[in-house]
Formats: sequence, structure tokens, C-alpha cells
Amino acid sequence: MSKLSIIGAGAVGTSCANWAMIKNLAEEIVLVDIIPDLAKGKALDLVQSSPLFGYSGKIWGTEDFSAIKDSDVVIITAGKPRQPGMSREDLLHINKEIVKSCAEKIKEFAKNSIVIVVSNPLDAMVYVAYKITEFPKNRVIGMAGVLDSARYRYFIAEALGVSPKDVQALVMGIHGDLMLPLVRFANVSGIPITKLLPKEKIEEIVKRTKLGGGEIVSYLKTGSAFITPGLSVAEMAESIIKDEKRVLTCSVYLEGEYGINGVFLGVPVILGKNGIEKIIEIELLPEEKEALKRCENACRELINLLNF
Ligand code: 2OP
Repeated sequence: MSKLSIIGAGAVGTSCANWAMIKNLAEEIVLVDIIPDLAKGKALDLVQSSPLFGYSGKIWGTEDFSAIKDSDVVIITAGKPRQPGMSREDLLHINKEIVKSCAEKIKEFAKNSIVIVVSNPLDAMVYVAYKITEFPKNRVIGMAGVLDSARYRYFIAEALGVSPKDVQALVMGIHGDLMLPLVRFANVSGIPITKLLPKEKIEEIVKRTKLGGGEIVSYLKTGSAFITPGLSVAEMAESIIKDEKRVLTCSVYLEGEYGINGVFLGVPVILGKNGIEKIIEIELLPEEKEALKRCENACRELINLLNF
């Protein structure tokens, strides 16, 4: 029997549970939140759609962290979202404490699980979870690349007037303004976008992708994106629970890959029942390597501020 736990019944956690249900991802989905009754209310609302949708599994909510026991995957979405004018880094200290306490609970109650972190600033928060749980690096993963790549793919599809399904693209690096939406690898059914779009348009898309989360924050004013973030993390959980071995960009602990050591950054990996089953190393051009180095430096600065 498969079990998915989601810590944080805010917008992203609830969206993730909703997508997980639609995907029939697990027989049991548990939502946990420290705010009294919040997770119970969200879970009840979700599960009441099951007769209409046809889901037969169990969805429930609680404040009691022991509910995550025996989870295959635990997703941490808990944390404050960005407000307009705030960078993801502004959230560092507030969310460090929140992620730390979630990770302690995971270590206590779900020590064999695979952990996916969504809280921001992502690449630093997944480091916190890694340090606190002391789980092996294949079992602590950050969600960002799937979301950033989805945004990139959508903007390409929109510019070309083609189905987003046929657009493949990859965004590596940090989940922040320094991320790398790689142009060379972006394609529409195998056709490089450099053959389909003018350089200026591609530059505009790359820029919009980098600022993709902030654009939504500026519209929503009271929070950040949640629908596509929820689906992005559900896709990762699905690849793990169903052992799909999908190739997705995830924030993972690097130990020499891409010449980087001791930080989490987004790189393409194979995701299966063991979590990160392989980090895929692609050869980067000198300017891409430099851009990745800038991500590494930014991430290291954040990690230094964490005072571990
Ligand atoms: C985003 O990029 C919430 O960081 C997330 O929208």
C-alpha cells in the first residue's frame, strides 16, 4: 500500500494533494498542519470530491505528525510564501525554523521515507532537511526544476502557438533569478527552438522564465503560485511511488557532479523508487558552466547564512 504525506496544508500542499488524488498516486494521502483543524478541513473538502471523481483511497488531515508513519514520500510545503517585494531569500530565516521542525518529525516518524522539499528559498531549505534528517542524499530532494521547466515550456509554446505537450526544455541551477533556462536543449518535438524563434524572443522567454514565480506573486499580492507548484511536486512523487524512472530536473546534493560540491542545485536526474537513482551529467558550454557557478555561489551564500 502506498502512502503520501504532505506537511503544510496551505495553498501548495492542498494543490499537491488534489493533483495526487487526480493521479491516483497513493492509496493514502495525509495532510498535516500545525494550525488546528486546517488540514482536517482541507482533507475533508478533498475527499468529498471522491464520489464525483472516482477516487477510492483515503485522504485525511491532522495536526499530529505521527500520522506520517510508514509514508513512502513526505512532502514539505510548510513555510511562509513570498509577499510582493520579497525575494525567496528574504524567507530564509523564517522558513529555516519551520523546515527544521518538519524534518525533525520526519526523522522521528518516517525514517524510511523519501523527502521532497518545496519551501523557499528552495535550494537552502532542502539543505536544511538534508542536514536535520541525516537521510542519504538520494532520499532528500528539492522541487523547483520541474516547475521552472514547465513555465519555460509554456512560454515557448505560447510564443509559437503550438501545444505545450510537444515542448521539451530544461532549467538547471538555483530556484531564483540566477536559474539557467537552457536554450540549446529546448525543442519542439525534436526541433531546436533556435530554428523556430528569433533570438530576441528567446531572450525574452528566458527572462520571463527566470522571473516566473515573481510575476505571479506580483499579481496575487498575498502569496505565490500554487497550482503548477502542486502538480510539479506531485509529478515527482508519482515517479518515485510508481517507480517510473522519469528524467526530471530536481534540486539534489552535489558531490563533484558538474564540478560542484556541498550544495543543492537543480540538475537532471532519474527519479524512481529509491529517490534520486542517477544524476545525469551533461556537458555544458563554458558560459553555461559559469552561470551554474554563479548559482553555486548564491546557494553557498545562503547556506552560510543558515549557520549550521
Ligand atoms: C514559485 O516559483 C513558489 O517558488 C515558487 O512560484
